[in-house]
Amino acid sequence: MSTASSEIIATPAADPLVPRIYRVEKVSHDLSDTVTLELMPRDGARPAFEPGQFNMLYAFGVGEVAISMSGDRKAEAFVHTVRDVGAVSGAITRLAPGAVIGVRGPYGVGWPVKEAEGSDVVIVAGGLGLAPLRPAIYDVLANRRRYGRVAILFGSRNPRDMLYRHELEQWRQRLDIDIAVTVDHADADWHGNVGVVPALIPRLAFDPQDTVAMICGPEVMMRFSVNALRDAGIPADRIHVSMERNMKCAIGLCGHCQFGPTFVCKDGPVMRYDRIAKIFAAREI
Ligand SMILES: Cc1cc2nc3c(=O)[nH]c(=O)nc-3n(C[C@H](O)[C@H](O)[C@H](O)COP(=O)(O)OP(=O)(O)OC[C@H]3O[C@@H](n4cnc5c(N)ncnc54)[C@H](O)[C@@H]3O)c2cc1C
Ligand code: FES
Repeated sequence: MSTASSEIIATPAADPLVPRIYRVEKVSHDLSDTVTLELMPRDGARPAFEPGQFNMLYAFGVGEVAISMSGDRKAEAFVHTVRDVGAVSGAITRLAPGAVIGVRGPYGVGWPVKEAEGSDVVIVAGGLGLAPLRPAIYDVLANRRRYGRVAILFGSRNPRDMLYRHELEQWRQRLDIDIAVTVDHADADWHGNVGVVPALIPRLAFDPQDTVAMICGPEVMMRFSVNALRDAGIPADRIHVSMERNMKCAIGLCGHCQFGPTFVCKDGPVMRYDRIAKIFAAREI
């Protein structure tokens, strides 16, 4: 086959910058400003993904944003949990079942779920940061016997804004994981922990030399969590954080997501803490 004819048969969908069309199958209204969407490709199957990876979701006529996978990788659909913070995320949260959306991905480096087998696992999430960690939690719980002690720590601003509340309750019923939830501000019905999520770390039982930690949430919360985990003796190369920077191309071409010498889209979003410790400490980067 000549070069010319192979160029002719190349399909636009093979271009990593061209979104594939997906259909919104289901919308769950998690919180007043947050929805979870199930998306199915209009043709063919959805690609496989690793927990911690993200897709670029394109709201037609509005724009494109990076959104993490938040569902089980065994599910048929892509599952995404989106908070309305601006024009694009707002347009996505208003989609109804049957609507179409553009999807590029999956992209990026995910959580070290496989590498953590045999070790204790500590998962620390703040607010919407539970969404990118949820696929990793599903994997660990589905293969529970492959891990040592497993702890999930979750912090929410208040009980009303608690993401996946029903699921947290279900996980809490399990006897084979430690789960602790805290809120910054309690209401009259809240009888649980009050305070920031890193404060829960010193109460945990784990073998610091043989623990893998995964953290996602606001950067300030991740900084304090890293400090608490380091104080508890976990080596820096066993701590992983998920970084968030504005994305455009998502494939390492445009430089929008630059974070020191790295690009969050292709070197992350999940990054090993020892590799970014210096730039992570500099708040302006
Ligand atoms: C790798 C990666 C994964 C992500 N995963 C998710 C996800 O699973 N779910 C999700 O909802 N978002 C996720 N985000 C963030 C999402 O991409 C942004 O919310 C989105 O870019 C906002 O775009 P916008 O056009 O709607 O708002 P913009 O117009 O860009 O922003 C409007 C305002 O909101 C502020 N803002 C922007 N982002 C946030 C934010 N995350 N929280 C609070 N304020 C913000 C801006 O500073 C601005 O003031 C992820 C980002 C990255 C890089
Ligand atoms: S978004 Fe373009 S280089 Fe990362």
